[in-house]
Amino acid sequence: MSPEETMSPKETMSPEDVLKKAFAAHDKITISFSGAEDVVLIDMACNISEEVNVFSLDTGRLHPETYRFIEDVREHYGVEIDILSPDAEALSAFVKEKGLFSFYEDGHTECCGIRKIEPLSKHLKTHDAWITGQRQDQSPTRSELPQVQVDTAFSDDRRDLMKYNPLSDWTSTQVWQYIRANEVPYNPLHDQGYLSIGCQPCTRTIGPNEHERAGRWWWEEATKRECGLHIINIEEDS
Ligand code: ADX
Ligand code: SF4
Repeated sequence: MSPEETMSPKETMSPEDVLKKAFAAHDKITISFSGAEDVVLIDMACNISEEVNVFSLDTGRLHPETYRFIEDVREHYGVEIDILSPDAEALSAFVKEKGLFSFYEDGHTECCGIRKIEPLSKHLKTHDAWITGQRQDQSPTRSELPQVQVDTAFSDDRRDLMKYNPLSDWTSTQVWQYIRANEVPYNPLHDQGYLSIGCQPCTRTIGPNEHERAGRWWWEEATKRECGLHIINIEEDS
């Protein structure tokens, strides 16, 4: 698919059709996996393609339950998952200088940069497209999210990197209906009051009337709660 064929947030296809189109257009395409939405996509992808490429960013700060969940997904679908780790030297220098909880003092950008964005950026250089489980109603920063876009944040002179968000117009209810109906594995933390799950020190449970991402980096402003994976959501808004 060429950049001209990207879609506006208003035009939508079924997630399965987005995946089919994506797999037909790119050989080097990968699904980013951390949460419930991503397993829905892996489930759909396994019904569409024999070769499903998945990666997960292991920040070193995930809940034990999340590591077990990643393993459950690997076994359930028989897919290989690239588990990406931060650069050891950069991480060690950062922790030596600022300790293990600097994000509570000066924000999550630096820690996420080392633990997530650098490994992601390196990994995406070997791909032409990636697939995410983002949804429009997850955050004010995602309200205009299209199903297909050029990821200008990780494109380079060699090529435009395409980014597919097949579930962009799905609600949380639709995601969970799909999970229940298809017996899709999910993170057991969802049964303990967690909705959106990231790293353990930066995720808390939420109350009944709170927004689903209220438990992520809760000490920061809602409009800044993008860790950098999806920085174009903020850049394109501004
Ligand atoms: S985040 O940017 O705030 O952490 P969020 O948890 O809402 O993102 O997840 C949105 C999408 O980003 C997921 O559906 C997944 O595609 C991708 N993603 C988030 N965290 C990771 C991770 N640790 N590894 C791989 N992909 C991730
Ligand atoms: Fe660091 Fe928190 Fe970002 Fe995880 S979510 S990489 S612990 S700042």
